[in-house]
Amino acid sequence: MSKPHYQTMGQQFGRRSWAEPWKIKMVEPIRMISREAREQAAAEAGYNTFLLRSEDVYIDLLTDSGTSAMSDRQWAGIMLGDEAYAGSRNFYHLEEAIQTYYGYKYVIPTHQGRGAEHLISQAVIQKGDFIPGNMYFTTTRLHQELAGGTFVDVIIDEAHDPTSQHPFKGNVNLDKLQALVDRVGAENIPYVSLAGTVNMAGGQPVSMANVKALREFCDRHGIRIYLDATRMYENCFFIQEREEGYGDKSIAEILKEFCSYTDGAWMSAKKDNLVNIGGWLAVNHADVAEKARNMVVVYEGLHTYGGMAGRDMEALAIGIAEGVQDDQVAARVRQVRYLGKLLLDWGIPIVEPIGGHAIFLDAKRFYPHIPQDQFPSQTLAAQLYLDSGVRSMERGIVSAGRDPKTGDHRYPALELTRLTIPRRVYTQAHMDVVAESIKAVYDQREQTRGLKMVYEPEYLRFFQARFEML
Ligand code: F0G
Repeated sequence: MSKPHYQTMGQQFGRRSWAEPWKIKMVEPIRMISREAREQAAAEAGYNTFLLRSEDVYIDLLTDSGTSAMSDRQWAGIMLGDEAYAGSRNFYHLEEAIQTYYGYKYVIPTHQGRGAEHLISQAVIQKGDFIPGNMYFTTTRLHQELAGGTFVDVIIDEAHDPTSQHPFKGNVNLDKLQALVDRVGAENIPYVSLAGTVNMAGGQPVSMANVKALREFCDRHGIRIYLDATRMYENCFFIQEREEGYGDKSIAEILKEFCSYTDGAWMSAKKDNLVNIGGWLAVNHADVAEKARNMVVVYEGLHTYGGMAGRDMEALAIGIAEGVQDDQVAARVRQVRYLGKLLLDWGIPIVEPIGGHAIFLDAKRFYPHIPQDQFPSQTLAAQLYLDSGVRSMERGIVSAGRDPKTGDHRYPALELTRLTIPRRVYTQAHMDVVAESIKAVYDQREQTRGLKMVYEPEYLRFFQARFEML
């Protein structure tokens, strides 16, 4: 797992341009429907981009989840699917890949990330427990709550400030964690829920120094650390780029070290691992693995497929090894940065530093005249779709949901619209088109009004809520 023998163009030629470490072998046509058709589609979708038909979308930046392009090798792997109910050969390839690159002992496949979140939450949380974490993620927190736990945010304050230039805005604040231990007792904290990178904060990384310090803290208090490894490759890129002593290490080496400070991880393989569906849970403690294996057969499938077909496990095993390569991760993060820099040059407010998987427009600064309960980031996502058929996602008050105790909206400090870049799918020209559309929406900002919520589902409301224009 030393550095690969090839170099990126940037490494070879210094300040010259970089380019993707792949070429395109198959294409999928896309088109922009007319303004009139977009207006109709948006209204029919209740101004919720989750409710649009993808046929009506031009450039789809809803998510980087399950939207990556697989490589020729991964597609070849699909043909090697061993579709046995039990003990498929592909499961053993997957297990080996996770053990090799992430370093955990026991591997349990799941249909996607939230399947693994369900298993770990039910396996280790007791009713009344507290789960500290570096900012919430929607499905993660819900599974912790459904298991009887209460999530407590212990991320550093800078993470809630979209203008802070802190290089590791995903870091845990150990004083906040200490305060929680003092308040509720370490025996009521089964684990720290650590995500690298932090999706809701704008794709911000955790430093190696922070996870090391966290490990020491947790060892002193008998608390475990479980990692949301969904975008850890990107987290490792930032460590390589920004943290002293890691510039000469490969992403794979950094990953292995980072994971070694944790007790296990859950994974949405639909992101870093470059597959369209899949997930896994991997842990180092046999008792936790046993509980999770007992449950996986109830909710997902046998413990050697966990809801995935053999062929999908093969593509995933190949994707794990492919996605972790330095040039793959670098090209991915640099494409995101390219889009972000275009916007910054035009003075458009985004979360800084630019994160790993997406550009987050700061809707509070974009639409300062729209109050938070008129859904500024939902409004921005709707306006962007109307302008150009580009699909983005609300990450603000709608995503934050309601406080289960008071029933009121949670009012998050961050009110963001996320433009998430799928891996290996769009070109630089697509990024230019997206940036120009955002500029057009920005130029119209003073005339834009907010939204009213007219339908609200009970769980994860952002997926299915409906709105009307004010
Ligand atoms: N953890 C993080 C950090 C995620 O971003 C996601 C999914 C999950 C867990 C759950 O995984 O979708 O495979 O069940 N994020 C997607 C997104 C949906 O668009 O950010 P899943």
